Amino acid sequence: MVERLAVVSGGGTGIGAGVARGLVADGFDVLIVGRRAGVLDAAAERIGAEGGRPGAVRAVAADLTDPGQVDRVVEAVGGRGVDAVVNNAGGYLGGDTGTLAGTAAHWRANLDANVLTAVLLTEALRPVLRRPGGRVVLLSSIAAQRGGGGAYSAAKAALHGWAYDLATQLGREQITVNVVSPGYVAETEFFGDRMTPEGHAARVAATLVGRAGQPDDIAAAVRYLVGPAAGYVTGQVLGVNGGSVLGR
Ligand SMILES: NC(=O)c1ccc[n+]([C@@H]2O[C@H](COP(=O)([O-])OP(=O)(O)OC[C@H]3O[C@@H](n4cnc5c(N)ncnc54)[C@H](OP(=O)(O)O)[C@@H]3O)[C@@H](O)[C@H]2O)c1
Repeated sequence: MVERLAVVSGGGTGIGAGVARGLVADGFDVLIVGRRAGVLDAAAERIGAEGGRPGAVRAVAADLTDPGQVDRVVEAVGGRGVDAVVNNAGGYLGGDTGTLAGTAAHWRANLDANVLTAVLLTEALRPVLRRPGGRVVLLSSIAAQRGGGGAYSAAKAALHGWAYDLATQLGREQITVNVVSPGYVAETEFFGDRMTPEGHAARVAATLVGRAGQPDDIAAAVRYLVGPAAGYVTGQVLGVNGGSVLGR
């Protein structure tokens, strides 16, 4: 039997690695994509071995803001049908916004990292998405729904509008497109050295369940959306945030 194939951007760390781990358990072959080859290779080996399926995870080093590098992913897919594209790469990019030039650079960096990565990867793989049954998932943030992240909030919110269009375009081919919007997730590289004990405590206190999210919490939602049970779910935003944002 030919395994289903998933492409997970940012799959070498944090939430993406959790998604890759979950999809290996669900029987997918997984291509993980990021910029750091060493991080990706180590993650691919570890996730495959831990899942009892060595070789199930392959790594492709590519900066997904660069159209020329996105072609590497298409080459690695090698003409196979792609069952799921999980657009998880992204993050909050800081910058000096004290000048207009700095503001422009800061906004472009956040839009590139969070929007262009998803658009270019999805468009590159669109011709080989499984028909019927393909799945596209976009990783947004509660920052898109309640603000607080400036350019990052705006960039994540842009994914929602694009997801609605893409879901409309691909629906007749039985391909679904959905957004997963995480709240605070610890144990990823997202906050770098920006997180403090007070910041962690405040984010936990903002949830209704009194804990930080883990990559596996977000992976569970992605596994549902790319699985066979979710074929009637498309054009939706699924919040996975411990109740820190309600019903949006
Ligand atoms: N952690 C949270 O609390 C939280 C909350 C809401 C939403 N999110 C979102 O969840 C997603 C995953 O974040 P995370 O928390 O797991 O943080 P993370 O560990 O920093 O993961 C981000 C991943 O994206 C990859 N990446 C970034 N820019 C890329 C590019 N241009 N091309 C290819 N890969 C790129 C990074 O790998 P390289 O550096 O090697 O390229 C990294 O593996 C992000 O979209 C983030 O905005 C996170």
